[in-house]
Amino acid sequence: MTACETPVQVNLGSRSYYIHVAASFEELPNVLAPLVEGRRCAVVSNPTVWGLYGGAVSEAIVAAGGTPVAVLMPDGEEYKTLSVFERVMEDCVTAGLDRSSVILGLGGGVVGDMAGFAAASYMRGIGLVHLPTTLLAQVDSAIGGKTGVNLVSGKNLVGAFYQPRAVYINWKTLASLPEREMRAGFAEVIKYGMIADAALWELLEETTAPVMAAISAHAPLPEVVGEIIRRCCEIKAGVVAADECESGVRAILNYGHTFAHAIETLTRYRTYVHGEAVAIGMHAAATYAHALGLCSAELVARQRAVIEAAGLPTRLPRVNVDELMAAFARDKKARGGSLTFILPEAIGRVKVVHGCDESLLRSTLTALQA
Ligand code: NAD
Ligand code: GLY
Repeated sequence: MTACETPVQVNLGSRSYYIHVAASFEELPNVLAPLVEGRRCAVVSNPTVWGLYGGAVSEAIVAAGGTPVAVLMPDGEEYKTLSVFERVMEDCVTAGLDRSSVILGLGGGVVGDMAGFAAASYMRGIGLVHLPTTLLAQVDSAIGGKTGVNLVSGKNLVGAFYQPRAVYINWKTLASLPEREMRAGFAEVIKYGMIADAALWELLEETTAPVMAAISAHAPLPEVVGEIIRRCCEIKAGVVAADECESGVRAILNYGHTFAHAIETLTRYRTYVHGEAVAIGMHAAATYAHALGLCSAELVARQRAVIEAAGLPTRLPRVNVDELMAAFARDKKARGGSLTFILPEAIGRVKVVHGCDESLLRSTLTALQA
């Protein structure tokens, strides 16, 4: 794939923007020039990612006529907090950012959520560009405008919808991503195939195992990775354009996530990274859908095969089913009153189901632990 061929548009009227999917940072100056020329640019990142890509991004900002300054936060979900947010804001003041300045988020979803919320808040809103460097961020968190931080009481409880002016994905940055993070990001890729695109699904059936083999062998990432990321971006862009603030169809992006959130809560976020919990959640959702008569056993088996080819788990951990049901109920409260499951009907098509068949759900969960 050549750099920046046909960017993907997120169509939101006057707030529309492009997602550039490229195999290097070569085209970044051209993309940035109209957004940063003559402006101060705070690159919000963490020491890990800054050490790898901060130099290339700073050079691109200079080439685009901007003035880069690094604003670093510590690496880790536990730092996606209001106190770190406050420090980021103070660093922006120290760096001399004004209302014409731009924030660039360079990193995974943690950095992106922080950078986005910082851009939404600093002087009541300044320009934002996402430069995602994890697979999860490239296919999901950098697109669609969800920004924010965690509270002690729960994840992502404070934030804003705030769209970037551009997203630039250099997918070759994934070469340095730890293997476990790469596999976890694949859970979201699998999600897109199942919710929206039978052709992507077939591509994943063909390529997941060889892509993972290349990653395990530390071989160069196959070009198909760029193709897969681009297709995921197109799907997410379409969903966000149809329902920016999640009052309807955007909920399908939560496929597997009701189960995942409950599993993450009950295992205290220690056993699984998010994508692993999503993988278990998708298998649980499909198994429950089959029990309800919504989808075939073949679909469940095909999904399981791709999840396993990605090296992701499907088995539900040994947690108390009553506690899982209670966690679903808390999720329902958090989401405004209705317990909602996104369930597959066919490959590439899901259904939003409100409420649940409690005894069937309980027996499905029990069977999945066996
Ligand atoms: P992350 O941001 O913590 O990144 C994972 C690890 O990879 C970190 O240690 C990071 O420093 C490192 N890293 C990043 N890029 C690298 C690279 N190219 N090479 C080497 N190391 C690299 O995790 P994540 O999975 O990207 O994001 C998770 C966060 O995203 C969560 O906070 C979640 O709430 C959020 N999220 C947001 C949205 C949204 O729509 N805004 C959607 C999904 C998830
Ligand atoms: N990650 C789900 C969404 O962006 O809506």
